[in-house]
Amino acid sequence: MTTSTTPAQLSLPPLRLGPLTVDVPVVLAPMAGVTNKAFRRLCREYGGGLYVTEMVTARALVERRPESLRIIDHDPDERIRSIQIYGVDAVNVGKAVRMVAEEGRADHIDLNFGCPVPKVTKNGGGSALPWKTDLFEAIVGTAVREAARADIPVTVKMRKGIDDEHITFLDAAKTARDHGVAAIALHGRTAAQHYSGQADWDAIAELREAIPDVPVLGNGDIWSAEDAARMVEQTGVDGVVIGRGCQGRPWLFGDLQAAFEGRADRFRPGVARVAEIIYRHAEMLVETFGDEHRGVREIRKHIAWYFKGYPVGGELRARMAQVPDLATFRELLGELDLSLPYPGAAVEGPRGRAGSPKRPHLPQGWLDSRTIDDAERLGLVDAELDISGG
Ligand SMILES: Cc1cc2nc3c(=O)[nH]c(=O)nc-3n(C[C@H](O)[C@H](O)[C@H](O)COP(=O)(O)O)c2cc1C
Repeated sequence: MTTSTTPAQLSLPPLRLGPLTVDVPVVLAPMAGVTNKAFRRLCREYGGGLYVTEMVTARALVERRPESLRIIDHDPDERIRSIQIYGVDAVNVGKAVRMVAEEGRADHIDLNFGCPVPKVTKNGGGSALPWKTDLFEAIVGTAVREAARADIPVTVKMRKGIDDEHITFLDAAKTARDHGVAAIALHGRTAAQHYSGQADWDAIAELREAIPDVPVLGNGDIWSAEDAARMVEQTGVDGVVIGRGCQGRPWLFGDLQAAFEGRADRFRPGVARVAEIIYRHAEMLVETFGDEHRGVREIRKHIAWYFKGYPVGGELRARMAQVPDLATFRELLGELDLSLPYPGAAVEGPRGRAGSPKRPHLPQGWLDSRTIDDAERLGLVDAELDISGG
């Protein structure tokens, strides 16, 4: 099940986020629809790190919508309860952070400035927002101030900018640093790139150099412990943030921990082990959502990720993708050839969202000024409705 490869050279001290210490400097990237309690628990079983919730909008939290409270709920054994808030105005973000702080609902808050989804950026939210320096400053400053009352560290997660002509990460990181954030995570892509091409690790190195006094976390295109080692080596970051690389591979956190401890063992599950893990994931989803139908519906999207690169027939895959309940899932998994070993390179490398570059949708005239006007502020209200993904 585990094999040895060349040891990755990953000697990094624990990651310090204000008063918190993350022993293994690895962060599970917030992923809407993925990093719920069930998936975080599964990942945690393999290795240490910081496991962030799916993002929640400030407004939904302030309105105490049940789904938003479900998103920020943690298992009792989650040592650092980490949540991600997305918001587009300082007042709502401030209220949401105050609520979390006063009610003791989290130990760490990340702010999302990376969402490239057109319906968000077209109103000025997500990765379009740091372009407006005054708005960005107000949101970050307010969040840090409110969180400080309960000694909760705030971090920011951002992209490089809107497109190659409108790069924002260096300015935004300096502003965030000046307002006391505990760390800055950079996904080395612009909004225009979406998930296409390759993450720009040189930009991550540039940020590390420009902000020597705050931990910098590198994000983008880490598919293995060896990639994490390369990122640390090439950029000098204080920690790594892993998104798509762990979709269908929660054991990657075990590989990362091994690498950070200088060990060469890697988790290489054959089909039987993958079947056990995915079934367990399904059971945990059922428990998390308190509803078999919902839990089983949630596992469907993970099936292609878990079996990516494994020789599993299309017809069986298709039936699994429509699985109605746990008992049927168990039966379908029993139809797999459980003797098949780990297939090697076929399951490694890029997975999950990719696609092509898209011209960012922005509010009319958004790029004309780096400060926000009243009309733009009004438009932003819609940037917080019904969104997901970063
Ligand atoms: C399905 C999915 C959902 C995502 N949701 C969020 C989110 O809620 N908040 C966020 O900041 N980023 C979100 N992201 C972006 C990831 O956190 C990460 O920055 C991005 O995937 C790049 O890292 P990777 O190359 O390791 O995947 C999402 C990405 C994916 C694929």
